[in-house]
Parts: sequence; C-alpha cells; structure tokens
Amino acid sequence: MRILILIAAMIVAAPVLGLGGVYLLSDAKLRDVTRDPPFDAPIPTDAASIEHGRHIARTRGCFGCHGQQLQGKNFDEQWDWPERAVAPNLALYAREHDNATLEAAIRQGIGANGKGLVSMPSYNFTRMTDEDLASLIAFLRSAPVVEIDLPKPKLGWIARWSFVTGEETHFAEWADAAPPLRVDAEAEPQRAFGEYLAMTMCNECHGLDLRGATLWDAVTPDLIIVSAYSREEFEKLITTGVAMSGRELGLMRLVAPDRFPELSEQEIDALYLYLTSLVDEPVPDGVFWRP
Ligand code: HEC
Ligand code: HEC
Repeated sequence: MRILILIAAMIVAAPVLGLGGVYLLSDAKLRDVTRDPPFDAPIPTDAASIEHGRHIARTRGCFGCHGQQLQGKNFDEQWDWPERAVAPNLALYAREHDNATLEAAIRQGIGANGKGLVSMPSYNFTRMTDEDLASLIAFLRSAPVVEIDLPKPKLGWIARWSFVTGEETHFAEWADAAPPLRVDAEAEPQRAFGEYLAMTMCNECHGLDLRGATLWDAVTPDLIIVSAYSREEFEKLITTGVAMSGRELGLMRLVAPDRFPELSEQEIDALYLYLTSLVDEPVPDGVFWRP
C-alpha cells in the first residue's frame, strides 16, 4: 500500500519537478552574462545634443517598438515566441534607471533585473558610440512621459525550454557576437561613417555582419545587394521600403518608412558608399545567425 502511495506521489510530483528544473536551468542561462565596465560618460544637457539623441532614437527604431510617444508596447499579438514581450515605457524607464543600467540594456542586452534580454535587439546597438548613446539617454530623459497600462512580460515554458536546450540564445550573447567595426576612420572617414550607420541600423535584421541572416520567420539578403542599386534607387528603398524590383519586402516595408526617411543626404551617401564596398569582402559562414 505504502509503495503505491509513493508511486502515486512520484507521478504527481514529476511534472512539477520537471517544470521547476526548466525554470531554474533557463534562469541560470539568462543570468549567464558578461558585463562591460559601468558606463560613465557624461550626459549632455544642451538642446543640440538632445535633438541628436532624438535622431538616434528615430533612426534606430526605438519609436517603432517602444511606441511613437515612447509609452511602451505589448507585442503579445505580433510575436508569440517569448509568450508575451512587452517593450517598456522608455521615457519613464530612463528616469527610473541610472546611466549604467540604460547602457547595459541598450548596448549589452542585459536587463535591469540582471538577465539577458530576449526580444530587445541590443546587438544592433553594441557598436553605438559613447557620444551617441549619451545623447540618446539625454533625449529619453527629456521626452514627456505618457503613461498607458502595460501588462507584465511573460516568458513561456516553450521559450524557457529552448534556452535550456541551447536552441535559443539571449540577446546579451548576440550583443557579444556583434563583430567590431573594421574601416579605418582616419584613412576613410566617410566609408567608416557608413559602416557605423549600417552596423547600428541594418544589422538588426541583415545579420550581425550585414551579410544576410536566417531569422525567426524571415531570410534577409546579404547587403552586398546594394551594389545592384543606383544611389537614387537606394534612397527610395531605404526611405520607403520599396525595392528596385517592386518586390514586397515584408518587415523592411514596415520599418523603413518609420525609421529612415529622416536620414540626411550625408548619412545616405555614407551608407551607400560603405554597402557598395562590401563586394570586396569575404562572407564568414557557420555563424549562428546564418546556419
Ligand atoms: C524590435 C523592437 C525593439 C527595438 C527596435 C527597440 N526595442 Fe527596446 N525593448 C524591446 C522589447 C520587446 C523589450 C522588453 C525586453 C525584452 O523582452 O527583451 C525592450 C526593452 C528595452 C529596455 C529595458 C530593458 C530591461 O528590461 O531592463 C530598454 C532600456 C530599451 N528597450 C531601450 C531601447 C532603445 C533606447 C531603443 C532604440 C535605440 C530600443 N530599445 C529599440 C523591443 C525593442
Ligand atoms: C526590421 C528588419 C530590417 C531592418 C532593420 C532592415 N531591413 Fe532591409 N530587409 C528586411 C527584410 C525582411 C527584407 C526582405 C527579405 C526578402 O523578402 O527577401 C529586406 C530587404 C532589403 C534589401 C533587398 C531589396 C531587394 O532588392 O531585394 C535591401 C537592399 C535592404 N533590405 C537594405 C537595408 C538597409 C540598408 C538597412 C539599414 C539602413 C535595412 N535594410 C534594415 C528587413 C530589415
């Protein structure tokens, strides 16, 4: 009799222990992050820097994902993988957190709770300069706070399981994998500026090295494809998301009109110069974002 009770107890307990294990193991993975020294660059207060910070926020997609008034956004219906991703209210977050916490979230993919982020594309901002980041922080703190009700984010069991198995990696790991900038800024300032822009705007989707990626539900092309575009066609593409061929570009059609119409002529020239120079560089393979 006693043995039967024991067996019954084990049958009841097994799933609970299993879920507990998945929870603990996935949390350990999420906490496994390497931190850079705390960010301590001065935050500017002048109007020109704050305006520059707004330009950075606009062209890097902060508004698209965190809301046009930075009020935050629930991604429940668009993305189901983490179960419920909620982009926080940035105007509020910037006032409630110090500079080092903001930097860790934006450039390193580490949340205020010390865990690797799972939906915020920090790997796109890893190479952002201290100056641009400081202006961005200044802007976020100056933006009016618009409060809305946001649900709590939720990391589901399927997502947790994929961290345990290693099928998914959090974005602090992605941020670590973002390659360094290579062009010598002294020798080729314009091409270096173009590389900087591309490596903080386009590598969210086109692969950490801009040479194409297999993402969750999209395959994005190697940006070597820009060589097929004239300067005018390229400008039209990145400001409207309409390809030279007239082909529908999915996500690109969505983000381009939100982020890139306010790029200056000089920024577009630099991007075009850099991206058309990619032809001469080899493409590394076997990297995790391009299996
Ligand atoms: C593709 C959508 C997307 C873009 C683009 C984006 N974010 Fe996020 N961000 C999120 C989501 C979703 C979260 C919630 C955390 C998570 O699930 O990873 C988040 C979280 C954050 C956090 C809080 C991290 C924490 O939990 O402590 C900060 C700060 C942040 N984002 C800043 C920015 C800034 C600044 C920009 C622009 C430079 C930006 N984000 C661009 C989607 C985005
Ligand atoms: C949020 C994701 C995202 C971002 C950010 C993004 N793209 Fe794209 N891009 C895509 C997707 C998705 C496609 C289309 C893939 C397909 O349908 O073949 C695409 C396609 C393209 C194409 C191919 C057009 C053609 O003729 O087929 C070019 C060129 C391009 N993007 C350039 C850029 C540049 C330059 C940037 C940065 C300034 C950028 N993209 C940023 C997602 C993105």
